[in-house]
Amino acid sequence: MSEEKITLSIIKADVGSLAGHHMPHPDQLAAATKVLAEAKQKGTIIDFYVTHVGDDIQLIMTHRKGVDHPDIHGLAWEAFQAAAKVARELKLYAAGQDLLSEAFSGNVRGLGPGVAEIEMIERKSETVITFHADKTEPGAFNLPIFRIFADPFNTAGLVIDPRMHEGFIFEVYDVFEGKSVKLNSPEEMYDILALIGTPGRYVIRRVYRKSDGLQAAAVSVERLNLIAGKYVGKDDPVAIVRAQHGLPAVGEILEAFAFPHMVAGWMRGSHFGPLMPVPQKYARVTRFDGPPRIIALGWNINKGKLIGPADLFDDVAFDETRRLAQQIAEYIRRHGPFMPHRLGPEEMEYTTLPQVLEKLKDRFVKTEEVHVIKRHSEMLSGTKE
Ligand code: F6R
Ligand code: MG
Ligand code: MG
Repeated sequence: MSEEKITLSIIKADVGSLAGHHMPHPDQLAAATKVLAEAKQKGTIIDFYVTHVGDDIQLIMTHRKGVDHPDIHGLAWEAFQAAAKVARELKLYAAGQDLLSEAFSGNVRGLGPGVAEIEMIERKSETVITFHADKTEPGAFNLPIFRIFADPFNTAGLVIDPRMHEGFIFEVYDVFEGKSVKLNSPEEMYDILALIGTPGRYVIRRVYRKSDGLQAAAVSVERLNLIAGKYVGKDDPVAIVRAQHGLPAVGEILEAFAFPHMVAGWMRGSHFGPLMPVPQKYARVTRFDGPPRIIALGWNINKGKLIGPADLFDDVAFDETRRLAQQIAEYIRRHGPFMPHRLGPEEMEYTTLPQVLEKLKDRFVKTEEVHVIKRHSEMLSGTKE
């Protein structure tokens, strides 16, 4: 691998938290930090930053080993094990939750943690935003990422800046089939939307600049429940978006989050709610274990060193977005256990609801209503008066 290439890796996991699924204990963050500090000393990684959003510990690391590297994934696994150990010692809640396997086997993908990584040749000034969300799923990024890289009403540069006027390539991943497709924007914009409008299945995984193939974004696509085959929590995704100088500006990237769109997750991973952009100090979930929230950290990367972060949603300019999110939260909460607040039946399959429905299965008896419905359909088809 050539020397000037560096890799930015975010690996995150919920390995237990304080007071329910609320936030990690500071000792857990300290334990993870210690592991990464030692690795930095040894030279495995160039730099790192440890933080959290809600109950998920976020490891932000730079190194020269490329994506999916066993040393880096192994290091993250070790850091999460250390944080999980603290959780067990303090009897915190759901200790070790996302570590689905006992043993690490070279790559954390499929073992529980979420991963977003980009290998890049550092630009003259490498401006990057890392996004970290809690109480939602990877598809939550579909709408904002689409708007950042394909919607000229969001990103003025798509129209004005010749370096991105050709558009971007979206790699869309089908989480059920494990397949992906690359689609061009703006030409195939409607095809992209036809897929990503179903965020529980089709997830934007990577975005490339069309003119030179530069990778501009990466989103974690791990879906815990599909991996484990049962409900273990939502997937609480992360994303990396590179900015400026022929890519969307920081302000264009953040603009896509000024609308608190509805995402799946929230309480018990079973409810739609608004995605609320918050500063780090509010990256703790409370009301109904939410509402789902997201932080944005701004960085410059200098020969692999992480300069920053800037806490980008810590701005009054997002106050109205937060207020609207609260109003939407209040409105949708009034629906209680009813759809469309509660997710639809396909999504509920991966929650604990099927266990409840199973108990009722044998208590259903055939009734007259079946015939009533039949007669009604016959009436509609005109076969009977
Ligand atoms: C959602 C989440 C929480 C829990 C809820 C119940 O992703 O983590 O909303 O689902 O607090 O948790 P348990 O089942 O652990 O009592
Ligand atoms: Mg949790
Ligand atoms: Mg979480």
